[in-house]
Amino acid sequence: DMSKPAPYTPDQEAHLIEETKKMLKQQDQIKQVSSIDEARTIAGKLRQLINYHDWRYYVLADPVISDYEYDQLFSLLKYLEKKFPAIVTPDSPTQRVPGAPVKEFPEVRHLQPMLSLDNSYKPEDLREFDRRVRNLIGQSRTSWSYTAEPKLDGAGIALVYENDMLVRGATRGDGEKGEDITHNLKVIRTIPLRAEFSRFGIHTVEVRGEVVMSIQDFKRLNQERMNQGQTPFANPRNAVAGTIRLQDPAEVARRRLVAIVYHISYAVDEHGNNLLGKVIRSHAESMRILSQLGFKTLIDDLKVCNDIDEVIEYCRWWEDNKRDKYPYEVDGMVVKVNELDLYDKLGITSHHPRWAIAFKFRAHQATTRIVNVIFQVGRTGIVTPVAKLEPVKVGGVTVSSVSLFNEDFIRQKDIRINDLVLVERAGEVIPYVVKVIKEARTGNEKEITFPDKCPSCGQPLVKLSGEAYWRCINIDCPAQVIERLIHFASKKAMDIAGLGEATIKQFYKIGLLKRIPDIYRLDFRKIALLPGFGIKSAENLRRAIEESKYRPLNRLIYALGIRYVGEVTARLLADRINSIYDLFNWSVADYMRIPDIGPVVAQSLYEFFQNDRNREMIKELERLGVRVHKTTQQVPLLKDSPFKGKSVVFTGELRSLTRGQASKLVELLGGEVKNSVSRNTDLVVVGENPGSKLRKAQQFGVPIADENQFIRMLEQAGIKGVLFFDAGRAF
Ligand code: IVH
Repeated sequence: DMSKPAPYTPDQEAHLIEETKKMLKQQDQIKQVSSIDEARTIAGKLRQLINYHDWRYYVLADPVISDYEYDQLFSLLKYLEKKFPAIVTPDSPTQRVPGAPVKEFPEVRHLQPMLSLDNSYKPEDLREFDRRVRNLIGQSRTSWSYTAEPKLDGAGIALVYENDMLVRGATRGDGEKGEDITHNLKVIRTIPLRAEFSRFGIHTVEVRGEVVMSIQDFKRLNQERMNQGQTPFANPRNAVAGTIRLQDPAEVARRRLVAIVYHISYAVDEHGNNLLGKVIRSHAESMRILSQLGFKTLIDDLKVCNDIDEVIEYCRWWEDNKRDKYPYEVDGMVVKVNELDLYDKLGITSHHPRWAIAFKFRAHQATTRIVNVIFQVGRTGIVTPVAKLEPVKVGGVTVSSVSLFNEDFIRQKDIRINDLVLVERAGEVIPYVVKVIKEARTGNEKEITFPDKCPSCGQPLVKLSGEAYWRCINIDCPAQVIERLIHFASKKAMDIAGLGEATIKQFYKIGLLKRIPDIYRLDFRKIALLPGFGIKSAENLRRAIEESKYRPLNRLIYALGIRYVGEVTARLLADRINSIYDLFNWSVADYMRIPDIGPVVAQSLYEFFQNDRNREMIKELERLGVRVHKTTQQVPLLKDSPFKGKSVVFTGELRSLTRGQASKLVELLGGEVKNSVSRNTDLVVVGENPGSKLRKAQQFGVPIADENQFIRMLEQAGIKGVLFFDAGRAF
């Protein structure tokens, strides 16, 4: 809701955005600054702006400037701090930049022991918990409340702030003592390096939370690992645990961890007086404080409940409605007594506090049998073993096959055909064999033998030394060609509706499609006569292919299927070029200058754009009408635009144009683009995966338009063929 605790008021936000724009305009003058005092003042301002944009981006996941503009702010600060090293402060965002690798992690004692939670599985367990709490509290108090919030499945951490500065971050360890991983935690942008606890009279505080990885980033990391033939992580928790203890903070930074805090375990004023249960009275209040200080908390999903029935209802509702949509893996709910002054009375058992309990969700695991193993050839030639299973329901989805990744995975887990296996499907993530139930073996199990020839083209497979996977290196191998075509036309790439896997295979088989450019040479009169097609479906396909010629550059780059280049990398590149041809001249070092692009990705990009066949293909695509430049076409401003004087808000991702392009067009047509929805908003344009703004719009009854409707409005305003424009460059 509107009064959610935040570190900034709407006015302050408006001001910070204004200041950001000014700062970006004045970059060149600022670089000329010669007085250290002036540099210090500007650096202070820049830090404030960067902290604000970090909060928008990392805590709210709702940025208000482009990545490119953010990079410019950051570079400017780095530039000033390099020119005047004396102005660097320990809480400067530049200090989040990964330091040198460390050999070992010193041991540290937690200010309060880090306990684990007692588990419960059924509503009756929660009622039992409620009865215990009632008995322990006794007659003196008859009313208290509970909170219920998601139980994040990551790695627990403890953060210590003294005098408003982050002084330490540690792993859970054995609960008494953990490992000091401050240097790794500093690269996590949701952990403030400085937080004004003093505003609440707090001098020393220990904040507990969980380091997590979004399911999306987890999938990406695993995809990357699989592309490199490494064995993927079983679940986000393992990925996080494997990351926070890495010795190289640069790699930690690349993995985009997120820290979410959910508990204050220790808080004293400057005289050492305890504030918990006194100044900070409830769990909900402590979460409001942390949210106001800019931490990422669970406050949006925290519910204060007056009795245990309300708790039970909320837990079930959350499991049924939120669990599978949540960006992070959640394995249950945590139920806590809300009033902190009751904690002493409730006390702890040897392992867990008596004021809290975990309510575990139904596991996304099941056992089933492997009936066969087949070998698939991917886009890049990697041969992947895939186990065919007796179909089984895991977390509501029927699973009938599961990747075994590579030979090492099969050997490590000793997986055999006919084995009974435990399969896990962690929140939307690809199913995974957790282990073989060896106790169930009968002697009928068969070892899995890897082929030595490509199952698609029959050429010998190769395994490079040090790599875990076998690969077909014939680049005309049909399986690889088909996979490349499927990728090119897929929804996240050129998004050609109607050109899916089955159609591509059909066209390939009869020789209509051999290479990517053939997509733009298809003969639709022939297609109309094919089985399963007709005039109408051929025409629809023609139109979909025609539209795909005008996709933004980032989609084209992604669609090319360059090894290690996912959607994010493609976007980073597209932001920095005017034409795909620019990349023909980039060196490995040029790629590496982009934050987030490491040596392996840079090398892969370099090789792709140096390769003559690839260069030829791109030129061919251009000749066939695929847009490879950002165009600079002038758009006429019309009088009767439906956007004139209107305040418009965007949420979610648009398919045919970027947020920046859409905003430019609205502004050009006399509208004003705002970042948040209020009662005064005239229109909310909703793309894919919309955020909380959609809910707010519904709440306020603000008119909503989807992408098609938005495009139709643009057309009404005289902007025909909106796909032709690249507003980011045009005006
Ligand atoms: S409260 C002991 N709240 O679950 C009470 N813990 O099994 C302090 N966890 O060690 C923890 N989400 O790592 C709390 N919303 C949440 C949590 C949460 C995940 C983890 C935490 C803890 C473990 C206990």
